[in-house]
Amino acid sequence: MGLFKILFWGIFCVLLLRSGIGIGIGISGPHYSEEDFPALEVTGSSNKQPYRTSYHFQSPQNWLNDPNGPMHYNGVYHLFYQYNPHGAVFGDGMVWAHSVSYDLVNWIHLDHALYPTEPYDINSCWSGSATILPGNKPVILYTGIDANKCQVQNLATPKNLSDPLLTEWVKFSQNPIMIPPEGVEPDNFRDPTTAWQGPDGKWRVVVGGHSHRYNRGMAILYHSVDFFHWTKYQDPLYSSEVEGMWECPDFYPVYINGTNGVDTSDLGPDVKHVMKASFNSHDYYVLGNYIPEKEKFLPETHFTGGFLDLRYDYGKFYASKTFFDNVKSRRILWGWVNESDSTKDDIQKGWSGLQVC
Ligand SMILES: *[C@@H]1O[C@H](CO)[C@@H](O)[C@H](O)[C@H]1NC(C)=O
Ligand SMILES: *[C@@H]1O[C@H](CO)[C@@H](O)[C@H](O)[C@H]1NC(C)=O
Ligand SMILES: *[C@@H]1O[C@H](CO)[C@@H](O)[C@H](O)[C@H]1NC(C)=O
Repeated sequence: MGLFKILFWGIFCVLLLRSGIGIGIGISGPHYSEEDFPALEVTGSSNKQPYRTSYHFQSPQNWLNDPNGPMHYNGVYHLFYQYNPHGAVFGDGMVWAHSVSYDLVNWIHLDHALYPTEPYDINSCWSGSATILPGNKPVILYTGIDANKCQVQNLATPKNLSDPLLTEWVKFSQNPIMIPPEGVEPDNFRDPTTAWQGPDGKWRVVVGGHSHRYNRGMAILYHSVDFFHWTKYQDPLYSSEVEGMWECPDFYPVYINGTNGVDTSDLGPDVKHVMKASFNSHDYYVLGNYIPEKEKFLPETHFTGGFLDLRYDYGKFYASKTFFDNVKSRRILWGWVNESDSTKDDIQKGWSGLQVC
C-alpha cells in the first residue's frame, strides 16, 4: 500500500539517523556564495550547534515551517518550504525558499522562488503545492496574504522551462485566482493541494478552510478546465465539525493491494483515497472511496477529535505534503518537524525547524 511505502520511508529516514550516517547538506548553490550565509561558520560547529541534524533537511539558518510544492521534475527533486528571511522566528513576509536534490539526501539551496511583491501576496507567500500539467509543465498554487491580510490563492509558473533547476518563477497576471468564498473566514482559507484531473478532463483542487457559520473545518473543492480559472464547487469534498481550521489538506490515491505509490489523478477499483488535514498540532487522515462523477469522497472513518483518529505520526510532524515520484513509482511524504525548545533558544541558535521525509 502507498501508506506502507510512506511508513517505509519514514522508518528508513529514522534508521539512517539512528545509525549515525551523517550526510552534509550541500550549501553551494548557483546564486549563493558562503558569504551570503555568515551563520554557516556557527552552524558547522557541532560544539556550538549540538542540535543541528547531520542527515535531515535544514535550511542554513532562520525559521522554517511547512514543506511546499515538493515534486520530481526532469530528474531533479524540488523542495520549497516556508521560510522567514528575517530571523529564527515565524514572521511577516514569509517566502518560498527553494532547494533541489538529485537523491533527496544532498541538497543545493537556491534563491527564493516566491517572495512578497504584489498586492495579492504583499504580506507573505504562504503554503501551496505543485502540479505537473500535461506537456511536462509544472505549476505552483500558493496562498498569498494580501494587502488587507486576507488569504487568497495565487498561481505561478517557471520562467524558463529549459532551466534544469527551475530557479525563477513568474506570478500569473490574473492573480488572485481564488478569493475566500461566502461563509469562509478570510483568514481561514489557505494551502491549496496538488491538483488532480477527473475522468471528465476537469482539474480539481482542494483548499483548506473553516466556516464559523457552519462550525466546520473543510477541504473546499474547486474545478478548472484550463487550470488558470477556477470555480468553487457547491459542497466541500469533505468537512468535519470536530476541529477548527483544516491546514494543509492533502488528497491522493493509494493501492489497496500494492506497495507502489499511485499518481495523483489515477483512479480504479484497486485504489482508495487518503484525505489528510493538519489541526491540533497533528496530521490526521481518513481513508475512503472517491467518486469523481458524483464529486463525493466517502470516508470509512471520520475525524472525531478522539485519540483513536488515524494519525501519520505520534511525535512532532505537521503540515505534511506528499508527491508522486514517477521514476521510482513511489509517493513521498514530507513534513515539518518543530523542536520543543523555546523561542529564546531558537533566536540563540539562529534557526528553527527541519523537514523530514
Ligand atoms: C533558459 O535556460 C536555458 C538553459 O539554462 C538557457 O540556455 C536559455 O538561455 C534560457 N533562456 C532564457 C530566455 O533565459
Ligand atoms: C486485494 O486483496 C484481497 C485479499 O487478498 C482480495 O480479496 C481482493 O480481491 C484484492 N483486491 C484487488 C482490487 O485486487
Ligand atoms: C512548534 O513549537 C512551538 C514551541 O514549542 C509550539 O508552540 C507550537 O505549537 C509548535 N507547532 C507545532 C505545529 O508543533
